[in-house]
Amino acid sequence: MKRSDWDAVLDAAVAAARSYLASLPDRRVYPDTSPDEVRAVVDVPLPDRSLPPAEVVAELARELEPFVTAHASGRYFGFVIGGLHPAAYGAELLVSTWDQNAGLYAPTPGVAIVEEVAVRWLVDLLGLPEHSSVGLVTGGQMANFTCLAAARDHVLRTVGWDVEADGLPGAPRIHVVVKTGRHTTVTRALRYLGLGERTIIEVGCDDQDRLLVEELRATLASLEGPTIVCVEAGNINTGSFDPFDAVADVADGHRARGNPTWVHVDGAVGLLAAASAAHVDLTAGVERLDSWSTDGHKLLNVAYDCGIAICRDPAPHRAAMSVRASYLVQGDGETREAMDWNPEFSRRARGVGVYATLRSLGRDGVADLAVRTTRLARRFAAALAADPRAEVVNDVVFNQVLVRWLPPDDHDPDDFNDRVVAAIQADGTAFVSGTTWRDHRLMRISVSDWATDEPDVDRTVAAMLRCAQRLAAGADAR
Ligand SMILES: Cc1ncc(COP(=O)(O)O)c(C=O)c1O
Repeated sequence: MKRSDWDAVLDAAVAAARSYLASLPDRRVYPDTSPDEVRAVVDVPLPDRSLPPAEVVAELARELEPFVTAHASGRYFGFVIGGLHPAAYGAELLVSTWDQNAGLYAPTPGVAIVEEVAVRWLVDLLGLPEHSSVGLVTGGQMANFTCLAAARDHVLRTVGWDVEADGLPGAPRIHVVVKTGRHTTVTRALRYLGLGERTIIEVGCDDQDRLLVEELRATLASLEGPTIVCVEAGNINTGSFDPFDAVADVADGHRARGNPTWVHVDGAVGLLAAASAAHVDLTAGVERLDSWSTDGHKLLNVAYDCGIAICRDPAPHRAAMSVRASYLVQGDGETREAMDWNPEFSRRARGVGVYATLRSLGRDGVADLAVRTTRLARRFAAALAADPRAEVVNDVVFNQVLVRWLPPDDHDPDDFNDRVVAAIQADGTAFVSGTTWRDHRLMRISVSDWATDEPDVDRTVAAMLRCAQRLAAGADAR
């Protein structure tokens, strides 16, 4: 490896990147392939002898690119996968080039301060309490974990138990109250934290998977002691938001009765709505709660991987995450140490992409992401609802649309929905994914890419109707 190899590697990578980005508007959104087909290309014997890096990069690009999914094409609507803002992309190139370890200020002062600014901007943009602490983690899963670790610390410390020192054996019981329509990562975070799945006390939801406040009130009235409640900004299926103001009132009442209480908001899908005046009805009161998780790599369109964990009270957040070691150089409060707010030790310079994206979008651009994706989701809903083969199941309040395909009389509805989703994926024009909701298989559309525009929606709807029509006509009946 010689110094001059950087040029050759850059040439190879940039040439591949240019051709990939240029192909985005027209390439198949989802690769038409199988695991064996990919293996046949990349599963070569581990070379005995070294190869020139530029040669490997050029070959990898050529071999793997046909199997890459065009998440940033403007017509990828699967799961809740964001696109890639150009500023985020450029920043990621720099982050890879600089290859900084952003765990602490000492190894990388510039990057640490950029992250400090980025997280302050985020708190401001979302209208959250000014002194909130923020950890930039790998995704919504770890953001939920981080916030709930802070919650666990706080509610136990308030009753005199130091969970960081003494662990959970012998600790007072924590009541964890979560709605039935929660995201699975909340349940998983509770598992990681030793609180367990089975201890969850469930509260019911309405027909949009919004938590029923009266049930929450009745449940909390029957409980005494440390309590964690989880609510949601942007349900994975319906895109709905829980009634935060009412939840905050109920939590305040529980706290006033002497019960240490923490309310966490899983806002992976929708917390960004708090940056948009047009969505104030959805997010009112969210700032009254105790912690918030969201994703940079979803609606904000930062590159993978980037989750955001925010806590109103930095003390339990720091207590749950911070670590000291003799050989580390940690500031005395003058600088922000990422390690105090993350479960990670060494870490990628995740704040740089967030900083660049926010600086490029500005307040208006971020608000516009929420407004535009909601408008486009409604465009999907209106077009599909106008067709007798499709039924829109949710109230489209944000960027998620839930659709039921109505089969011909003799078809099984669940099977028909799965086959329509598979046919759309195979068609290549766009990508959508399925879900099971209220015991039925449905199709989900998530509009989470800044690049999506009206023609993308119209082209996708046309492809969907074409696929559904063909299946209904039995052309693909197998
Ligand atoms: C509501 C909700 N919470 C958490 C997550 C997990 O986020 P991530 O995939 O970034 O870990 C998701 C993912 O879609 C989600 O929809």
